[in-house]
Amino acid sequence: MKIQFFILAIVLAILVTDSLAEKTRKHKKYRRHRVSTTSTELNLDNELNDEPVRDMDVEIPEEPETEITDNNAFSADPCLKVHCGAGRICEIDEDDEPQCICIPDCPIEVDSRRKVCSNHNETWTSDCAIYQQRCWCSTGDKRCKGEEYRHIHIEYYGVCRDMPECTKEEMADFPRRMRDWLFNVMRDLADRRELTPHYLKMEREAETNLTRRWTNAAIWKWCDLDGQPHDRSVSRHELFPIRAPLMSLEHCIAPFLNACDTDDDHRITLKEWGSCLELDEDELEDKCDEITEE
Ligand SMILES: *[C@@H]1O[C@H](CO)[C@@H](O)[C@H](O)[C@H]1NC(C)=O
Ligand SMILES: *[C@@H]1O[C@H](CO)[C@@H](O)[C@H](O)[C@H]1NC(C)=O
Repeated sequence: MKIQFFILAIVLAILVTDSLAEKTRKHKKYRRHRVSTTSTELNLDNELNDEPVRDMDVEIPEEPETEITDNNAFSADPCLKVHCGAGRICEIDEDDEPQCICIPDCPIEVDSRRKVCSNHNETWTSDCAIYQQRCWCSTGDKRCKGEEYRHIHIEYYGVCRDMPECTKEEMADFPRRMRDWLFNVMRDLADRRELTPHYLKMEREAETNLTRRWTNAAIWKWCDLDGQPHDRSVSRHELFPIRAPLMSLEHCIAPFLNACDTDDDHRITLKEWGSCLELDEDELEDKCDEITEE
């Protein structure tokens, strides 16, 4: 049955080369797009992950139609179906198999703003250089600078500097500033039409009803941070998108986020998030948008 299908597909391919080529091209475009999105997500996910990054993740086509298209596209780059972890790129080996290898050359960064500070308090030229180093260490490459670099990660963006201590007064004012900031970010995204209709509605409500102002922004951000896995709690890894970029601007962000995890189980529930932003617990309900899941 499968073979018949395959033969039929080949015959079809020869007969209607033009239309199929068109189709394949469209398909590839879609795939490339997906591959790149997934790898961005992965970068964030694996950021603080101490487990070694999985070597490769082969996307399994969902529909039979996809398979046929693939079988016909002999010349398609096998790497299109593979996405590699941070610091790795896909390469075709001598057996024509896609392989994730450590990125050989990071782009040369001249802009000092691209510098990043590692968890060892060492300034690196770019995030790429950190991921590359971690890859070298996990593959036993000679360029690994030592065992302690196996779990190297980005502590924050910018050069390493002496972080002033977050004083009691600053910390006391931080929840208010954080609420304000979250609302402004949400408003900004609404203006730029970058919110889903569900969150746009919540933003409108926050604009018109002052009691919903901070809570809706807090709920939205919490849902947004709870990316992969979508398990209704925000892990330390999932905090990366707000922690790393804000660190060099806001020395209170790290102690603030640590304090949010009141029961110290390395996860922040919506209740914990609300209470560290000093919001009324009764106003907080899990209203995450499910549409993005589909
Ligand atoms: C990290 O490095 C910076 C710059 O070299 C230094 O000023 C700072 O004191 C260091 N921080 C710690 C915690 O060692
Ligand atoms: C504003 O929000 C609060 C809390 O959710 C709600 O009880 C109240 O009815 C809302 N007010 C208006 C005018 O919608």
